[in-house]
Amino acid sequence: MQLLDGKSLAQQIKEEIKQEVDKRIAAGFKRPHLAAILVGSDGASETYVGHKVKSCQQVGFESTLLRFPDTTSEQEVLDAVNDLNSNSEIDGFIVQLPLPKHINAESVINAIDPLKDVDGFHPVNVGKLTLGLPTFVSATPKGIMTLLERAEVDTQGKHCVVIGRSNIVGRPMSILMSASGNPGNATVTLCHSRTQNLTEICKQADILIVALGKAEFVTGDMVKEGAVVIDVGITRVEDGSKKSGYALKGDVHFESVAPKCSYITPVPGGVGPMTVVSLMQNTLQAAEGKLA
Ligand code: GUN
Repeated sequence: MQLLDGKSLAQQIKEEIKQEVDKRIAAGFKRPHLAAILVGSDGASETYVGHKVKSCQQVGFESTLLRFPDTTSEQEVLDAVNDLNSNSEIDGFIVQLPLPKHINAESVINAIDPLKDVDGFHPVNVGKLTLGLPTFVSATPKGIMTLLERAEVDTQGKHCVVIGRSNIVGRPMSILMSASGNPGNATVTLCHSRTQNLTEICKQADILIVALGKAEFVTGDMVKEGAVVIDVGITRVEDGSKKSGYALKGDVHFESVAPKCSYITPVPGGVGPMTVVSLMQNTLQAAEGKLA
């Protein structure tokens, strides 16, 4: 069993991005600039946005964090999005999800200029991804593709089972893995909460990508010997022995699954850091204006 070490790969890619930024600065371009809108005080979202801001510093980007209280109206968020759309200092921006219940996330995402949508959530960018056209690939699926690519995992003709059909991870992941390319060219099964015989399907997976958000859902008896397992889950579970009061758990029960795998991602230190570094890659791409 080999660990797919997202933490160290993300570190390496950050250094590559930093070198690109240094080159751009030397050539007279401005620093790439990422902005983030954070509404409310969800603990996990605070942590994720904090990682994004810190990564910007590490790769030499400017960053701007726009914080809004829980009570912010949808119109105020839409106004902030429009300001960022028209601000030529900003190359790309994200609206951290989830938004408070009274704000329609779909309306907010639709308002983002697709050329600044470095999360790749806008319908125009999702459409391009589906058609295999150049676009911003959303950060978590992009990070997983990079992990598989750099570890030289063979996906050609393999059976890839994805659990979870979210717009952010499962659905785009299924599209990327079935698309022509390397990694890619897999035969994909997309499973979700209504799937019957889930264990039987998982057992057929050469590559199992788990993104349903239930701590330790996938256990050893659901995994084929030699499978590649990618764990996207990151759930906070109460743990009195930790200073924070919680432990982070993946969607995969690591102890029973890992011994059966050829490769597996740890939680934390697997997919999470790759998500953040993919956002940095997308922001550099936005600054380069190659998609415009
Ligand atoms: N919430 C969970 N994952 C993400 C992400 O990749 N981007 C944004 N904006 N919100 C998220």
